[in-house]
Amino acid sequence: RLHTIGRGSLAKCLQKVDTFLHRNIGTNVVAVQEKNGFKSLYAVQAERQEQAEKSVLISCHSRTNEQKFLKYIANYGDIQKYFFYESYGMYAVVEFANQESVASLLEGTAIPSISHESLVPFKSRLLSMRNLDAVDLPNQSSGKKRQAQTSIPINELIQRLSKEESIDQQITSLTEAYQLTEENCRLRFLVCSLLKDIAAAFFPECTIMPFGSSVNGFGKLGCDLDMFLDLDGISGKNATMPKSGLFLEYQMKRANLERIVTQNILSVIGECVDQFGPGCVGVQKILNARCPLVRFVHQPSGFQCDLTANNRVAMKSTELLYLYGELDPRVRHLVFTVRCWARAHSITSSIPGAWISNFSLTVMVLFFLQRRSPPIIPTLDHLRDLAGPEDKCVIEDNDCTFVSDFSKIQLESNTETLEQLLCEFFEFYSSFSFRTLSINIRKGKEQNKPEVAPLHIQNPFETTLNVSKNVNASQLDRFVALCQESSWLIQQNKTAPSRGGTKAKGAITPWGVSTLLLPSQVAGIKSRKRRKFEPASERIKSLLESLKNINKELN
Ligand code: GTP
Ligand code: MG
Repeated sequence: RLHTIGRGSLAKCLQKVDTFLHRNIGTNVVAVQEKNGFKSLYAVQAERQEQAEKSVLISCHSRTNEQKFLKYIANYGDIQKYFFYESYGMYAVVEFANQESVASLLEGTAIPSISHESLVPFKSRLLSMRNLDAVDLPNQSSGKKRQAQTSIPINELIQRLSKEESIDQQITSLTEAYQLTEENCRLRFLVCSLLKDIAAAFFPECTIMPFGSSVNGFGKLGCDLDMFLDLDGISGKNATMPKSGLFLEYQMKRANLERIVTQNILSVIGECVDQFGPGCVGVQKILNARCPLVRFVHQPSGFQCDLTANNRVAMKSTELLYLYGELDPRVRHLVFTVRCWARAHSITSSIPGAWISNFSLTVMVLFFLQRRSPPIIPTLDHLRDLAGPEDKCVIEDNDCTFVSDFSKIQLESNTETLEQLLCEFFEFYSSFSFRTLSINIRKGKEQNKPEVAPLHIQNPFETTLNVSKNVNASQLDRFVALCQESSWLIQQNKTAPSRGGTKAKGAITPWGVSTLLLPSQVAGIKSRKRRKFEPASERIKSLLESLKNINKELN
């Protein structure tokens, strides 16, 4: 139907649709959007950042009456958007139509009067709504819609997916259940903006941008918030030097290495976040890491935050992943499903260690999609070849250039379904020669391993590095064993059980993707060799047994 609408009017219509919704619509629409200019990550970030600057975060009593609350806030200016959510208490995010309203609201905000403690007099946009009158009655607030900021538990997801009619629908439904919501995305930018207010005390021209899964399109509700303190605005706005005559320059402190400057800046900002930042708790300075960072929890949002600086390559990786995710909706769907599957089997973990990271796993999915015939996404080298002069980007001698104009990218017409792709993904990595080959999304072809490591995934921009250097042999073996098991499981459970048949009322039989998320029989194995001795019939028998047991538990 979309093809029957004129391209001009379709473009206008699409512009009005939220970016968040953009990611969930069909391939045809994506193709047309590309020609009409997709929103780059920078454009999305600029828009979100502007929203965040006009927003405040207010802790309020769970029984606060919504109408009264809004009426009070509206005294300071027009409200553009607001929502309530719960995280160690009730909070509201309010975005004003104009920046001046924030200043006026802060002007009218009181400093708490306390008698037995002392205050750090740092004023921020994190506020508390107090009520000197009697607290509103509970039923007055019952209509207040609270936005969930965490994803549904795995058991609930398994049940939800089991109700779908096809594997394709299951995969789409999984993405919808797990992806960041519009509100969560706003909250992430608001937390960055609040942090920026602290850093701006020293560096008024700085920005703090989210990167990683908060913005690359692959973030799951509850994922960490990776932040990048960008100080380039300072050197970027340099005065032009005259060819001759007098001129003034700043006296600035110097250090031998850029890394030392980064460490020092993060150390001081980390200290300020710890000492002055309202709601920031558990601050840890991890300055000796390859990429120095300050880690803390922002309690009002519940986000685990990682603040880095001078981390431009990671920003570029984020932009690349975002671009791949926007090129074809199947990319995001497959990444979400594989990430969820990996987490369900503890192939990935929120704790750093010898396991495969979500970033490595995403690169593995991208590589697999490049290896389809015809390929679903282009190679990074191809994206570099399409780049214009404005895209040129070299960071510390690493060529990070790739095209930013989506309309220059011609996709091949691969029509594989999500079901086919998921099955093929497990097949592909069940038999991949990890021992000798390296995964390389720059070339879109496996390469000979340049160094000894169980899993070798070439860093797309710092090409001498292996992004999965941390992965040990037993973790890789578990991954391969689970791919083999899942490949078999999905073949056995491809069709939805007929509805209203033998099952008791309310009973749901896991099938398709749901079965892949159930506890595995091979998860505990130490090596692939051991599994070979187990007769296949025994494995199948115990798997079916486990499916039955879990089904009983779910019901
Ligand atoms: P989750 O936080 O697990 O949801 O995923 P994430 O993609 O945000 O991963 P993580 O927080 O570990 O890292 C944040 C970002 O840093 C990633 O998206 C990448 O852009 C980048 N990154 C992480 N690990 C590596 C790495 O080993 N090499 C490179 N080049 N970039 C990395
Ligand atoms: Mg992250």
